[in-house]
Amino acid sequence: MGKSSKDKRDLYYRKAKEEGWRARSAFKLLQLDSQFHLLKGLNRVVDLCAAPGSWSQVLSRSLPEDSAKIVAVDLQPMAPIKGVTSIQADITHPKTLKRILDIFGGEPADFVCSDGAPDVTGLHDLDEYIQAQLILSALQLATALLRPGGAFVAKIFRGRDIDLMYFQLGLLFERVTCAKPRSSRGSSLEAFIVCQGYKPRPGWVPSIINEVFSTEEYFKKMGIERPLIVDLDGEYEEEERVVAPFVACGDLSEYDSDATYTIERSTARVSLDPVQSPTAPPYKTAIELKRKGIIKRT
Ligand SMILES: C[S@@+](CC[C@H](N)C(=O)[O-])C[C@H]1O[C@@H](n2cnc3c(N)ncnc32)[C@H](O)[C@@H]1O
Repeated sequence: MGKSSKDKRDLYYRKAKEEGWRARSAFKLLQLDSQFHLLKGLNRVVDLCAAPGSWSQVLSRSLPEDSAKIVAVDLQPMAPIKGVTSIQADITHPKTLKRILDIFGGEPADFVCSDGAPDVTGLHDLDEYIQAQLILSALQLATALLRPGGAFVAKIFRGRDIDLMYFQLGLLFERVTCAKPRSSRGSSLEAFIVCQGYKPRPGWVPSIINEVFSTEEYFKKMGIERPLIVDLDGEYEEEERVVAPFVACGDLSEYDSDATYTIERSTARVSLDPVQSPTAPPYKTAIELKRKGIIKRT
């Protein structure tokens, strides 16, 4: 399947190229912002798992050019974006926090977002586990970086234990909402937790704790045990669960990401080049070997 067929099949993919966004994900942040007004009045912002950089582009276009500081972090190198300081780092590594704080001169952030996703292996349990680790690291960084009242947005996959996470996040933020932008395919479990009004726990000093492997352990270290509802005889136990409000965001008149559209005949045959070529694609070595004639197409 060539890029022109994807251009026709996925209208957000094509629209991203027309509007100069590096990835269609830009529309997810734009649609989240149109619902929650997250990007107003921000000065210090952290974009975790940022490559190739479409969220950073949205941030750099939305924040005041002269005063705002935007830090983008990813394992992959990222081509430069005006007004964005990017660092190539692992968000699960404790040293990453210090690198971000150094750029902010020790000042707290107003907004932390994470669109993190691991390379999918196809092994469902492993993929879910790695995704959970990314959310946990993003949350740890957010609690250590945010000012009181700040906001945190992260990509999640709505799995079995998600309502427990809503409960836990509700202890740290005034409002927790599960949001599904119109540009996120309805057929995918992907959604975004939008946590507003950060309220640090009194007396608790957030830090990056390396030896925790689940949000539950992390909250235990904070002194918050998994809440249980016990019946009167003390025999029946059930975990307390919370259902976060679910909001579909983005204008209803905008494209439905699961639908197929017909592009006007005049433009249908024009395939657009990527806005930013990948800086270090995993297939780079294969291309070099092919160029040297060491490997050949069969
Ligand atoms: C869906 S992409 C992000 C797209 C981005 N928001 C944009 O708009 O262009 C997910 C990114 O997560 C990054 N990632 C995965 N694990 C990471 C980790 N441990 N530390 C930093 N970045 C990570 C990947 O390298 C990948 O670039």
